Amino acid sequence: MAAFPKDFLWGAATAAYQVEGAHDEDGKGLSIWDVFSHLPGTTYQGTNGDVAVDHYHRMQEDVALMAEMGLQSYRFSISWPRLLPNGRGEVNEAGVKFYSDLIDALLAHNIVPMITLYHWDLPQALQDEGGWEVRSTAEAFEEYARLCYARFGSRVKLWATFNETIVFIGHGYITGSHPPSVKDPARAIQACHQVFIAHAMAVKAFREMNIDGQIGFVNVLQPHTPLTDSPEDTAASELADAIHTHWLYDPVLKGTYPAELVTQTQALWGVPRFAPGDDELLRKYRCDFIGLNYYRRETVTANPGETLTQSNHSGEKNSGGEFGFKGLFKFVRNPNGVYTDWDWEIWPQGLTDGIMTIKERYGDIPIYITENGLGAKDPIVDGEIVDQPRIDYLRMHIDALEKAIALGADVRGYYPWSFIDLLSWLNGYKKQYGFVYVDHQQNLARKRKKSFYWYKEAINSHGNVR
Ligand code: NOJ
Repeated sequence: MAAFPKDFLWGAATAAYQVEGAHDEDGKGLSIWDVFSHLPGTTYQGTNGDVAVDHYHRMQEDVALMAEMGLQSYRFSISWPRLLPNGRGEVNEAGVKFYSDLIDALLAHNIVPMITLYHWDLPQALQDEGGWEVRSTAEAFEEYARLCYARFGSRVKLWATFNETIVFIGHGYITGSHPPSVKDPARAIQACHQVFIAHAMAVKAFREMNIDGQIGFVNVLQPHTPLTDSPEDTAASELADAIHTHWLYDPVLKGTYPAELVTQTQALWGVPRFAPGDDELLRKYRCDFIGLNYYRRETVTANPGETLTQSNHSGEKNSGGEFGFKGLFKFVRNPNGVYTDWDWEIWPQGLTDGIMTIKERYGDIPIYITENGLGAKDPIVDGEIVDQPRIDYLRMHIDALEKAIALGADVRGYYPWSFIDLLSWLNGYKKQYGFVYVDHQQNLARKRKKSFYWYKEAINSHGNVR
Protein backbone atom coordinates (compact mmCIF):
# COMPACT_ATOMS: atom_id res chain seq x y z
CA MET A 1 0.00 0.00 0.00
CA ALA A 2 1.24 3.51 -0.78
CA ALA A 3 2.67 5.17 2.26
CA PHE A 4 1.73 8.69 3.29
CA PRO A 5 3.47 11.32 1.16
CA LYS A 6 6.74 12.61 2.58
CA ASP A 7 5.47 16.10 3.43
CA PHE A 8 2.08 14.88 4.72
CA LEU A 9 1.14 16.82 7.90
CA TRP A 10 0.07 15.10 11.09
CA GLY A 11 -1.99 17.64 12.95
CA ALA A 12 -4.79 18.19 15.42
CA ALA A 13 -7.59 20.77 15.59
CA THR A 14 -9.59 23.00 17.93
CA ALA A 15 -11.79 26.11 17.63
CA ALA A 16 -11.63 29.43 19.48
CA TYR A 17 -14.98 29.38 21.30
CA GLN A 18 -14.47 25.79 22.39
CA VAL A 19 -11.07 26.30 24.05
CA GLU A 20 -10.16 29.91 24.70
CA GLY A 21 -12.44 31.27 27.41
CA ALA A 22 -11.61 34.88 28.39
CA HIS A 23 -14.85 35.71 26.60
CA ASP A 24 -14.88 39.36 27.67
CA GLU A 25 -11.24 39.98 28.54
CA ASP A 26 -8.68 42.35 27.08
CA GLY A 27 -11.14 44.17 24.86
CA LYS A 28 -12.84 41.18 23.23
CA GLY A 29 -16.38 41.79 21.97
CA LEU A 30 -19.15 39.25 22.52
CA SER A 31 -19.95 36.61 19.94
CA ILE A 32 -23.36 35.14 19.20
CA TRP A 33 -22.32 32.07 21.22
CA ASP A 34 -21.39 34.16 24.25
CA VAL A 35 -24.87 35.64 24.22
CA PHE A 36 -26.82 32.51 23.21
CA SER A 37 -25.17 30.19 25.76
CA HIS A 38 -26.23 32.56 28.55
CA LEU A 39 -29.89 32.24 27.64
CA PRO A 40 -31.66 29.75 29.92
CA GLY A 41 -32.12 26.24 28.55
CA THR A 42 -29.99 26.57 25.44
CA THR A 43 -27.07 24.28 26.38
CA TYR A 44 -26.44 21.18 28.49
CA GLN A 45 -26.54 22.28 32.15
CA GLY A 46 -26.08 25.88 31.05
CA THR A 47 -22.43 25.34 30.09
CA ASN A 48 -20.82 28.20 28.21
CA GLY A 49 -17.48 29.32 26.82
CA ASP A 50 -16.77 32.04 29.39
CA VAL A 51 -13.78 30.05 30.63
CA ALA A 52 -13.91 26.99 28.34
CA VAL A 53 -10.55 25.25 28.94
CA ASP A 54 -8.79 28.55 29.51
CA HIS A 55 -6.51 28.19 26.50
CA TYR A 56 -6.28 31.99 26.30
CA HIS A 57 -4.25 32.00 29.51
CA ARG A 58 -2.56 28.62 29.08
CA MET A 59 -1.56 28.90 25.46
CA GLN A 60 2.18 28.40 26.06
CA GLU A 61 1.55 25.30 28.19
CA ASP A 62 -0.78 23.89 25.51
CA VAL A 63 1.70 24.52 22.70
CA ALA A 64 4.40 22.80 24.79
CA LEU A 65 2.12 19.75 24.96
CA MET A 66 1.62 19.86 21.19
CA ALA A 67 5.37 19.94 20.74
CA GLU A 68 5.82 17.04 23.15
CA MET A 69 3.30 15.03 21.14
CA GLY A 70 5.30 15.80 18.01
CA LEU A 71 2.45 17.63 16.28
CA GLN A 72 3.42 18.89 12.83
CA SER A 73 0.46 21.18 12.29
CA TYR A 74 -2.23 22.78 14.45
CA ARG A 75 -5.60 23.90 13.12
CA PHE A 76 -7.20 26.60 15.24
CA SER A 77 -9.75 29.31 14.62
CA ILE A 78 -9.61 33.02 15.26
CA SER A 79 -12.35 34.63 17.29
CA TRP A 80 -13.56 37.44 15.02
CA PRO A 81 -14.88 39.56 17.94
CA ARG A 82 -11.54 39.22 19.74
CA LEU A 83 -9.90 41.05 16.83
CA LEU A 84 -12.81 43.30 15.86
CA PRO A 85 -15.09 43.72 18.89
CA ASN A 86 -17.76 45.39 16.74
CA GLY A 87 -17.24 43.09 13.78
CA ARG A 88 -15.57 45.86 11.77
CA GLY A 89 -13.70 49.09 12.37
CA GLU A 90 -11.64 49.42 15.53
CA VAL A 91 -8.99 46.71 15.97
CA ASN A 92 -8.35 45.16 19.39
CA GLU A 93 -4.56 44.96 19.47
CA ALA A 94 -4.57 42.69 22.54
CA GLY A 95 -6.49 40.14 20.49
CA VAL A 96 -4.06 40.44 17.58
CA LYS A 97 -1.20 39.88 20.04
CA PHE A 98 -2.72 36.68 21.40
CA TYR A 99 -2.85 35.06 17.95
CA SER A 100 0.47 36.50 16.95
CA ASP A 101 2.09 34.97 20.04
CA LEU A 102 0.33 31.67 19.36
CA ILE A 103 1.66 31.59 15.79
CA ASP A 104 5.18 32.42 16.98
CA ALA A 105 5.02 29.72 19.65
CA LEU A 106 3.89 27.16 17.05
CA LEU A 107 6.57 28.13 14.56
CA ALA A 108 9.23 27.99 17.27
CA HIS A 109 8.33 24.29 17.58
CA ASN A 110 8.09 23.73 13.83
CA ILE A 111 4.32 23.32 14.04
CA VAL A 112 2.60 24.58 10.88
CA PRO A 113 -0.40 26.79 11.75
CA MET A 114 -3.67 26.32 9.86
CA ILE A 115 -6.15 29.11 10.55
CA THR A 116 -9.92 28.85 10.28
CA LEU A 117 -11.38 32.33 10.01
CA TYR A 118 -14.94 31.44 10.95
CA HIS A 119 -15.80 28.65 13.35
CA TRP A 120 -19.30 29.89 14.22
CA ASP A 121 -18.59 32.77 16.65
CA LEU A 122 -20.00 35.73 14.73
CA PRO A 123 -19.65 39.09 16.52
CA GLN A 124 -22.99 39.77 18.22
CA ALA A 125 -22.78 43.35 16.92
CA LEU A 126 -23.12 41.99 13.36
CA GLN A 127 -25.92 39.62 14.31
CA ASP A 128 -27.79 42.64 15.63
CA GLU A 129 -27.57 44.13 12.12
CA GLY A 130 -28.97 41.01 10.46
CA GLY A 131 -26.08 38.51 10.66
CA TRP A 132 -25.53 36.22 7.67
CA GLU A 133 -28.79 37.31 6.08
CA VAL A 134 -27.38 40.68 5.06
CA ARG A 135 -24.65 41.54 2.59
CA SER A 136 -22.94 43.94 5.02
CA THR A 137 -21.85 40.92 7.12
CA ALA A 138 -20.09 39.43 4.09
CA GLU A 139 -18.37 42.79 3.56
CA ALA A 140 -17.33 42.89 7.23
CA PHE A 141 -15.97 39.36 6.83
CA GLU A 142 -13.77 40.53 3.99
CA GLU A 143 -12.47 43.35 6.20
CA TYR A 144 -11.76 40.87 8.99
CA ALA A 145 -10.04 38.47 6.57
CA ARG A 146 -7.85 41.29 5.22
CA LEU A 147 -6.84 42.20 8.77
CA CYS A 148 -5.85 38.58 9.48
CA TYR A 149 -3.86 38.29 6.24
CA ALA A 150 -2.10 41.60 6.96
CA ARG A 151 -1.12 40.65 10.49
CA PHE A 152 -0.47 36.92 10.15
CA GLY A 153 -0.14 36.27 6.40
CA SER A 154 3.65 36.29 6.31
CA ARG A 155 3.79 33.49 8.89
CA VAL A 156 0.72 31.40 8.06
CA LYS A 157 0.44 29.45 4.80
CA LEU A 158 -2.77 27.47 5.35
CA TRP A 159 -6.10 29.27 5.66
CA ALA A 160 -9.72 28.17 5.68
CA THR A 161 -12.58 30.63 5.47
CA PHE A 162 -15.58 28.76 6.96
CA ASN A 163 -16.07 25.67 9.06
CA GLU A 164 -19.05 23.36 8.45
CA THR A 165 -21.48 25.79 6.88
CA ILE A 166 -24.22 23.18 6.79
CA VAL A 167 -24.06 22.93 10.57
CA PHE A 168 -24.08 26.58 11.58
CA ILE A 169 -26.64 27.45 8.91
CA GLY A 170 -28.69 24.26 9.36
CA HIS A 171 -28.87 24.58 13.14
CA GLY A 172 -28.88 28.38 13.15
CA TYR A 173 -31.71 28.77 10.63
CA ILE A 174 -33.63 25.49 10.35
CA THR A 175 -33.60 23.47 13.55
CA GLY A 176 -33.03 26.64 15.57
CA SER A 177 -30.80 24.90 18.12
CA HIS A 178 -27.81 27.18 17.45
CA PRO A 179 -27.86 30.99 17.35
CA PRO A 180 -29.66 32.90 15.92
CA SER A 181 -32.37 30.25 16.57
CA VAL A 182 -34.37 30.79 13.39
CA LYS A 183 -36.57 28.04 11.89
CA ASP A 184 -37.06 28.91 8.27
CA PRO A 185 -35.45 27.08 5.35
CA ALA A 186 -35.85 30.00 2.95
CA ARG A 187 -33.90 32.25 5.31
CA ALA A 188 -31.34 29.46 5.72
CA ILE A 189 -30.74 29.25 1.99
CA GLN A 190 -30.27 33.01 1.69
CA ALA A 191 -27.93 33.16 4.71
CA CYS A 192 -25.96 30.27 3.21
CA HIS A 193 -25.67 32.22 -0.02
CA GLN A 194 -24.17 35.20 1.84
CA VAL A 195 -21.63 32.84 3.38
CA PHE A 196 -20.57 31.63 -0.08
CA ILE A 197 -20.25 35.26 -1.16
CA ALA A 198 -18.27 36.13 1.98
CA HIS A 199 -15.99 33.19 1.20
CA ALA A 200 -15.46 34.36 -2.39
CA MET A 201 -14.75 37.91 -1.20
CA ALA A 202 -12.16 36.59 1.28
CA VAL A 203 -10.52 34.50 -1.45
CA LYS A 204 -10.46 37.57 -3.71
CA ALA A 205 -8.74 39.55 -0.93
CA PHE A 206 -6.25 36.70 -0.46
CA ARG A 207 -5.33 36.84 -4.15
CA GLU A 208 -5.22 40.64 -4.24
CA MET A 209 -2.92 40.78 -1.24
CA ASN A 210 -0.67 38.13 -2.80
CA ILE A 211 -0.61 35.99 0.30
CA ASP A 212 1.92 33.24 -0.13
CA GLY A 213 -0.20 30.27 0.86
CA GLN A 214 -3.39 28.37 0.18
CA ILE A 215 -6.97 29.15 1.08
CA GLY A 216 -9.81 26.66 1.35
CA PHE A 217 -13.23 25.91 2.81
CA VAL A 218 -14.04 23.25 5.41
CA ASN A 219 -17.10 21.07 4.89
CA VAL A 220 -18.70 18.13 6.59
CA LEU A 221 -17.99 14.96 4.64
CA GLN A 222 -21.07 12.82 5.14
CA PRO A 223 -21.59 9.92 2.78
CA HIS A 224 -25.14 8.60 2.46
CA THR A 225 -26.12 4.98 2.01
CA PRO A 226 -29.62 3.85 1.04
CA LEU A 227 -31.22 1.58 3.63
CA THR A 228 -32.30 -0.86 0.91
CA ASP A 229 -31.59 -1.10 -2.80
CA SER A 230 -35.12 -0.05 -3.71
CA PRO A 231 -35.33 2.75 -6.29
CA GLU A 232 -37.09 4.93 -3.68
CA ASP A 233 -34.33 4.61 -1.09
CA THR A 234 -31.67 5.07 -3.76
CA ALA A 235 -33.33 8.26 -4.97
CA ALA A 236 -33.69 9.46 -1.36
CA SER A 237 -30.01 8.86 -0.73
CA GLU A 238 -29.07 10.72 -3.91
CA LEU A 239 -31.19 13.67 -2.83
CA ALA A 240 -29.50 13.67 0.59
CA ASP A 241 -26.14 13.79 -1.20
CA ALA A 242 -27.28 16.63 -3.42
CA ILE A 243 -28.37 18.69 -0.41
CA HIS A 244 -25.61 17.82 2.02
CA THR A 245 -22.74 17.63 -0.41
CA HIS A 246 -23.36 19.25 -3.78
CA TRP A 247 -25.06 22.33 -2.33
CA LEU A 248 -22.13 22.97 -0.01
CA TYR A 249 -19.23 21.96 -2.25
CA ASP A 250 -20.25 23.06 -5.75
CA PRO A 251 -20.31 26.83 -5.11
CA VAL A 252 -16.79 26.88 -3.62
CA LEU A 253 -15.19 24.28 -5.89
CA LYS A 254 -17.08 24.66 -9.18
CA GLY A 255 -18.25 28.23 -8.66
CA THR A 256 -21.91 27.36 -9.33
CA TYR A 257 -24.85 25.84 -7.46
CA PRO A 258 -26.18 22.39 -8.41
CA ALA A 259 -28.54 23.49 -11.19
CA GLU A 260 -31.48 21.18 -10.67
CA LEU A 261 -31.76 21.82 -6.96
CA VAL A 262 -31.39 25.56 -7.18
CA THR A 263 -34.13 25.69 -9.80
CA GLN A 264 -36.42 23.96 -7.32
CA THR A 265 -35.62 26.16 -4.33
CA GLN A 266 -35.94 29.32 -6.41
CA ALA A 267 -39.29 28.19 -7.76
CA LEU A 268 -40.53 27.34 -4.27
CA TRP A 269 -39.15 30.10 -2.13
CA GLY A 270 -37.37 32.53 -4.43
CA VAL A 271 -33.97 31.76 -2.90
CA PRO A 272 -31.07 32.04 -3.22
CA ARG A 273 -31.41 35.61 -4.46
CA PHE A 274 -28.35 36.72 -6.42
CA ALA A 275 -27.08 40.29 -6.32
CA PRO A 276 -25.47 41.63 -9.51
CA GLY A 277 -21.94 40.24 -9.73
CA ASP A 278 -22.51 37.24 -7.42
CA ASP A 279 -22.27 34.77 -10.30
CA GLU A 280 -18.91 36.07 -11.32
CA LEU A 281 -17.57 36.26 -7.77
CA LEU A 282 -18.36 32.60 -7.19
CA ARG A 283 -16.95 31.54 -10.53
CA LYS A 284 -13.75 33.52 -10.21
CA TYR A 285 -12.71 32.96 -6.60
CA ARG A 286 -12.60 29.29 -5.81
CA CYS A 287 -10.71 27.25 -3.25
CA ASP A 288 -7.11 26.11 -3.39
CA PHE A 289 -8.01 23.12 -1.24
CA ILE A 290 -10.98 21.55 0.47
CA GLY A 291 -11.02 20.63 4.16
CA LEU A 292 -13.09 17.58 5.04
CA ASN A 293 -14.49 16.90 8.50
CA TYR A 294 -15.35 13.23 8.61
CA TYR A 295 -17.06 11.51 11.53
CA ARG A 296 -19.81 9.24 10.19
CA ARG A 297 -22.19 8.29 7.43
CA GLU A 298 -25.96 8.46 7.40
CA THR A 299 -28.33 5.73 6.27
CA VAL A 300 -31.20 7.09 4.23
CA THR A 301 -34.68 5.92 3.45
CA ALA A 302 -37.48 7.42 1.38
CA ASN A 303 -40.27 9.12 3.23
CA PRO A 304 -43.15 8.82 0.79
CA GLY A 305 -46.39 10.66 0.95
CA GLU A 306 -44.94 14.07 1.59
CA THR A 307 -43.77 16.66 -0.86
CA LEU A 308 -41.30 19.46 -0.97
CA THR A 309 -43.05 22.33 0.73
CA GLN A 310 -42.10 24.99 3.15
CA SER A 311 -44.37 23.58 5.84
CA ASN A 312 -42.34 20.39 5.94
CA HIS A 313 -39.43 21.75 7.86
CA SER A 314 -38.86 20.96 11.50
CA GLY A 315 -36.12 20.75 14.04
CA GLU A 316 -36.28 17.04 14.69
CA LYS A 317 -33.05 15.21 15.25
CA ASN A 318 -32.21 13.04 12.27
CA SER A 319 -35.09 14.44 10.29
CA GLY A 320 -33.00 14.88 7.18
CA GLY A 321 -34.63 18.27 7.17
CA GLU A 322 -31.70 20.54 6.42
CA PHE A 323 -32.78 23.00 3.80
CA GLY A 324 -36.41 22.11 4.35
CA PHE A 325 -36.56 18.90 2.39
CA LYS A 326 -37.97 16.82 5.19
CA GLY A 327 -40.56 14.49 3.82
CA LEU A 328 -38.52 13.39 0.85
CA PHE A 329 -36.03 11.38 2.85
CA LYS A 330 -35.09 10.62 6.39
CA PHE A 331 -32.07 9.35 8.25
CA VAL A 332 -32.48 6.04 10.04
CA ARG A 333 -30.32 3.75 12.11
CA ASN A 334 -28.30 1.25 10.12
CA PRO A 335 -29.40 -2.09 11.62
CA ASN A 336 -25.90 -3.50 11.07
CA GLY A 337 -24.01 -0.42 12.16
CA VAL A 338 -21.70 0.18 15.11
CA TYR A 339 -22.55 3.41 16.89
CA THR A 340 -20.87 5.83 19.34
CA ASP A 341 -22.51 6.90 22.61
CA TRP A 342 -23.85 9.88 20.68
CA ASP A 343 -25.41 7.66 18.01
CA TRP A 344 -22.93 8.41 15.30
CA GLU A 345 -22.17 5.39 13.14
CA ILE A 346 -18.52 4.36 13.11
CA TRP A 347 -17.73 3.56 9.48
CA PRO A 348 -14.10 4.09 8.44
CA GLN A 349 -14.75 2.94 4.87
CA GLY A 350 -16.81 6.12 4.49
CA LEU A 351 -13.63 8.16 4.71
CA THR A 352 -12.08 6.32 1.76
CA ASP A 353 -15.33 6.39 -0.24
CA GLY A 354 -16.11 10.00 0.64
CA ILE A 355 -12.69 11.22 -0.46
CA MET A 356 -12.95 9.29 -3.72
CA THR A 357 -16.42 10.74 -4.39
CA ILE A 358 -15.03 14.23 -3.94
CA LYS A 359 -12.16 13.44 -6.30
CA GLU A 360 -14.58 12.07 -8.87
CA ARG A 361 -16.86 15.10 -8.79
CA TYR A 362 -14.32 17.89 -8.33
CA GLY A 363 -11.11 16.56 -9.83
CA ASP A 364 -7.68 16.67 -8.25
CA ILE A 365 -8.35 19.27 -5.59
CA PRO A 366 -5.86 19.07 -2.68
CA ILE A 367 -7.57 17.69 0.42
CA TYR A 368 -6.92 18.09 4.13
CA ILE A 369 -8.83 15.98 6.63
CA THR A 370 -9.50 18.91 8.92
CA GLU A 371 -11.42 16.88 11.53
CA ASN A 372 -11.97 13.25 12.46
CA GLY A 373 -12.43 11.78 15.89
CA LEU A 374 -14.45 9.98 18.50
CA GLY A 375 -16.72 11.81 20.93
CA ALA A 376 -17.02 9.70 24.09
CA LYS A 377 -17.09 9.72 27.84
CA ASP A 378 -13.57 8.48 28.46
CA PRO A 379 -12.90 5.74 31.03
CA ILE A 380 -10.57 6.64 33.90
CA VAL A 381 -8.73 3.66 35.39
CA ASP A 382 -6.52 4.28 38.46
CA GLY A 383 -6.32 7.94 37.57
CA GLU A 384 -5.25 7.26 33.97
CA ILE A 385 -7.45 8.13 31.00
CA VAL A 386 -7.56 4.92 29.04
CA ASP A 387 -9.27 6.04 25.85
CA GLN A 388 -8.70 2.85 23.89
CA PRO A 389 -11.91 3.29 21.82
CA ARG A 390 -10.49 6.59 20.51
CA ILE A 391 -7.23 4.90 19.55
CA ASP A 392 -9.15 2.15 17.74
CA TYR A 393 -11.30 4.73 15.95
CA LEU A 394 -8.33 6.80 14.81
CA ARG A 395 -6.31 3.78 13.75
CA MET A 396 -9.11 2.53 11.52
CA HIS A 397 -9.54 5.96 9.98
CA ILE A 398 -5.82 6.39 9.33
CA ASP A 399 -5.96 3.06 7.47
CA ALA A 400 -8.97 4.29 5.49
CA LEU A 401 -7.09 7.45 4.62
CA GLU A 402 -4.10 5.48 3.47
CA LYS A 403 -6.41 3.56 1.14
CA ALA A 404 -7.68 6.77 -0.45
CA ILE A 405 -4.10 7.95 -0.98
CA ALA A 406 -3.24 4.59 -2.56
CA LEU A 407 -6.22 5.11 -4.89
CA GLY A 408 -4.73 8.41 -6.03
CA ALA A 409 -6.31 11.08 -3.81
CA ASP A 410 -4.18 14.15 -3.07
CA VAL A 411 -4.56 14.20 0.72
CA ARG A 412 -2.01 16.45 2.42
CA GLY A 413 -2.78 16.36 6.10
CA TYR A 414 -4.81 14.79 8.90
CA TYR A 415 -6.14 16.76 11.87
CA PRO A 416 -7.90 14.65 14.48
CA TRP A 417 -10.54 16.47 16.49
CA SER A 418 -9.42 17.45 18.97
CA PHE A 419 -6.05 18.32 20.41
CA ILE A 420 -7.53 18.84 23.87
CA ASP A 421 -10.89 18.14 25.55
CA LEU A 422 -13.05 21.15 24.90
CA LEU A 423 -16.53 22.60 25.06
CA SER A 424 -18.79 20.68 22.71
CA TRP A 425 -21.23 23.51 21.85
CA LEU A 426 -24.57 22.18 23.15
CA ASN A 427 -23.09 19.12 24.89
CA GLY A 428 -20.94 20.86 27.48
CA TYR A 429 -17.82 18.98 28.54
CA LYS A 430 -19.28 15.50 28.79
CA LYS A 431 -18.49 14.66 25.17
CA GLN A 432 -14.70 14.31 25.03
CA TYR A 433 -12.57 14.21 21.90
CA GLY A 434 -9.07 15.20 23.03
CA PHE A 435 -5.63 13.68 23.32
CA VAL A 436 -5.26 15.86 26.40
CA TYR A 437 -7.70 15.59 29.30
CA VAL A 438 -8.77 18.69 31.22
CA ASP A 439 -9.60 18.18 34.89
CA HIS A 440 -12.55 20.46 35.64
CA GLN A 441 -12.34 19.48 39.33
CA GLN A 442 -8.70 20.48 39.60
CA ASN A 443 -8.24 23.94 38.22
CA LEU A 444 -8.38 22.75 34.60
CA ALA A 445 -5.12 20.82 34.95
CA ARG A 446 -3.96 19.11 31.75
CA LYS A 447 -3.33 15.39 31.67
CA ARG A 448 -2.04 13.21 28.84
CA LYS A 449 -4.43 10.44 27.79
CA LYS A 450 -3.37 7.06 26.47
CA SER A 451 -4.19 8.34 22.99
CA PHE A 452 -1.67 11.16 23.47
CA TYR A 453 1.17 8.65 23.54
CA TRP A 454 -0.37 6.58 20.78
CA TYR A 455 -0.74 9.55 18.41
CA LYS A 456 2.82 10.62 19.21
CA GLU A 457 3.88 7.20 17.94
CA ALA A 458 1.59 7.52 14.91
CA ILE A 459 3.27 10.79 14.00
CA ASN A 460 6.71 9.47 14.69
CA SER A 461 6.16 6.43 12.46
CA HIS A 462 4.45 8.54 9.75
CA GLY A 463 1.18 6.70 10.16
CA ASN A 464 2.64 3.28 10.56
CA VAL A 465 0.92 2.35 13.81
CA ARG A 466 -1.16 -0.71 14.32
C1 NOJ B 1 -17.46 19.61 14.02
C2 NOJ B 1 -17.21 20.99 14.52
O1 NOJ B 1 -16.40 21.69 13.63
C3 NOJ B 1 -16.64 21.03 15.91
O2 NOJ B 1 -16.68 22.33 16.37
C4 NOJ B 1 -17.38 20.05 16.78
O3 NOJ B 1 -17.03 20.15 18.13
C5 NOJ B 1 -17.14 18.66 16.24
N1 NOJ B 1 -17.67 18.57 14.90
C6 NOJ B 1 -17.75 17.55 17.04
O4 NOJ B 1 -19.13 17.60 17.00
